[in-house]
Amino acid sequence: MVNATTAGLVGVVLLARHGDRTEYNQDPYTYNSTQGYLTPLGSVQQFELGSFLRSTYLNPDSPSYIQGISADVVDIDQLFVRADSGGGNVILDSAYALLQGLYPPSPQTSFTLANGTVVVPPLGGYQYVPVESLEFWQAPSLTSWMDCNYFQLHLARANQTAEYLNASSQALPFLESVRPYLNGISNNFTNMWNIYDYINVRYTHNKTFYENLPETLLYQARHFANIHQELTFTDGVQLQNGIGQIAIRTVLPEIFASLTNMTVPENKVKLAITELDYKQFISLFNVTNATTYDPEVVGIPDYNSVVALELSKDTDHYEVSMKFKNGTNDKDFRQLKLFGNTSITLPELIQQLDWTTVNTTMSWCFSCNQTTLRGCSAYNFSQDPFISGDRP
Ligand SMILES: *[C@@H]1O[C@H](CO)[C@@H](O)[C@H](O)[C@H]1NC(C)=O
Ligand SMILES: *[C@@H]1O[C@H](CO)[C@@H](O)[C@H](O)[C@H]1NC(C)=O
Ligand SMILES: *[C@@H]1O[C@H](CO)[C@@H](O)[C@H](O)[C@H]1NC(C)=O
Ligand SMILES: *[C@@H]1O[C@H](CO)[C@@H](O)[C@H](O)[C@H]1NC(C)=O
Ligand SMILES: *[C@@H]1O[C@H](CO)[C@@H](O)[C@H](O)[C@H]1NC(C)=O
Ligand SMILES: *[C@@H]1O[C@H](CO)[C@@H](O)[C@H](O)[C@H]1NC(C)=O
Ligand SMILES: *[C@@H]1O[C@H](CO)[C@@H](O)[C@H](O)[C@H]1NC(C)=O
Ligand SMILES: *[C@@H]1O[C@H](CO)[C@@H](O)[C@H](O)[C@H]1NC(C)=O
Ligand SMILES: *[C@@H]1O[C@H](CO)[C@@H](O)[C@H](O)[C@H]1NC(C)=O
Ligand SMILES: *[C@@H]1O[C@H](CO)[C@@H](O)[C@H](O)[C@H]1NC(C)=O
Ligand SMILES: *[C@@H]1O[C@H](CO)[C@@H](O)[C@H](O)[C@H]1NC(C)=O
Ligand SMILES: *[C@@H]1O[C@H](CO)[C@@H](O)[C@H](O)[C@H]1NC(C)=O
Repeated sequence: MVNATTAGLVGVVLLARHGDRTEYNQDPYTYNSTQGYLTPLGSVQQFELGSFLRSTYLNPDSPSYIQGISADVVDIDQLFVRADSGGGNVILDSAYALLQGLYPPSPQTSFTLANGTVVVPPLGGYQYVPVESLEFWQAPSLTSWMDCNYFQLHLARANQTAEYLNASSQALPFLESVRPYLNGISNNFTNMWNIYDYINVRYTHNKTFYENLPETLLYQARHFANIHQELTFTDGVQLQNGIGQIAIRTVLPEIFASLTNMTVPENKVKLAITELDYKQFISLFNVTNATTYDPEVVGIPDYNSVVALELSKDTDHYEVSMKFKNGTNDKDFRQLKLFGNTSITLPELIQQLDWTTVNTTMSWCFSCNQTTLRGCSAYNFSQDPFISGDRP
């Protein structure tokens, strides 16, 4: 273990879930979807998340202060921010709102022109932080479950498991009670995500709906959606390299590259942020065995959730520790365990999971048995034994 109080952190990798949004429908047989839109509530929440991260990581008096990071005026070389883009704006705009809270406007950003005039950026010193937006068509990395044939096979397999069948029969009374509130959308367990999302979004935004829906139905919807989504984005057939966890397996290479880069003296990036949806959290807590030690971190993380992989330096080696904040209801991070440990060395973390990573488009095509869509037609699969019949 590291004495973080005196050492401070070397760097941090964050995965953040977007804020409150409009409805988000997912095809229950493919999980193909189009993003919704961030609401004003969502932008306030993300701004608050940014402020929370600011007080945790940018405040020199915080035990989690990142050594040498610029506290008030952003040094854009110290940040790497990435967001899943496309369809609606919910994730990309969440990243911007988070950054506004992380580095709020500062009069210290003013500067002096050659002729002596002092210029303050708009809005009292607004700070513009570049965000790399990744579109669906550019790379599968942040939307790797979509158009993934083997993932669809996984869905068909997961819905036959004892846990799934048990939950779907437990849900029957709920599904019957909720029907009058669904305005005709299917009230079967297969559609559980969409039922939950429909109710949750309306309960937040529609006064009539809010006044009429018995609150217990919202809680039950969440309960069953949690079970449903846990089974969807984890994999019981194979362990850490199951296609059910593809959502995180395509993000791990970036996480490892960011953490490894942070150990290199010439490296400038100290905070790497990826803004995304909820799936990666579920898969991450499964592949790192976090749920074994904290059985509550199961199911869908709330809007505005954040996972931190904190890198610190012990005398002669680097340690990684994982923390999680489940949306606005959690006031602070909670410590999670990586394979049963509060912290493990960076090489050990990489060694545990490297073999599961999917780090190129070609390897994604192979892992998904996708030969045409999303850039896969560029590769020649004729010689590949995996794609011509091996099990997913
Ligand atoms: C899946 O969704 C994406 C983005 O929303 C879209 O571009 C793509 O065409 C969809 N694929 C199918 C098979 O519908
Ligand atoms: C100084 O330069 C800026 C930018 O060109 C210009 O807007 C401003 O009027 C100049 N001020 C003086 C006093 O010349
Ligand atoms: C399970 O998935 C398969 C394939 O998508 C589908 O045909 C079947 O209806 C699903 N069964 C249930 C109970 O959802
Ligand atoms: C079925 O679900 C109930 C209620 O969630 C749970 O108590 C029970 O352990 C489950 N049984 C199995 C076999 O999963
Ligand atoms: C269950 O809901 C899905 C999604 O709306 C729908 O495609 C399917 O037909 C429904 N199944 C039954 C048996 O009603
Ligand atoms: C709000 O909910 C009520 C009751 O479900 C529905 O009749 C109405 O159309 C909804 N309003 C909007 C703007 O969606
Ligand atoms: C990961 O998910 C699978 C399938 O839901 C489950 O069987 C397994 O126990 C989970 N692993 C952990 C560590 O929770
Ligand atoms: C890691 O550093 C290399 C070399 O500077 C750079 O090309 C790469 O983009 C970096 N990766 C990440 C995720 O920061
Ligand atoms: C997050 O909190 C919600 C309740 O607000 C809970 O239903 C869910 O299981 C939690 N998710 C995780 C991953 O801890
Ligand atoms: C993680 O959990 C799985 C079972 O869910 C177990 O087989 C594996 O040994 C665990 N790995 C570590 C490193 O704890
Ligand atoms: C992909 O991952 C494998 C295994 O982790 C690694 O050996 C390889 O160098 C990586 N390839 C790229 C292009 O990053
Ligand atoms: C993989 O896809 C090819 C067609 O693209 C198909 O012939 C083959 O059966 C698939 N393999 C499996 C295991 O589904």
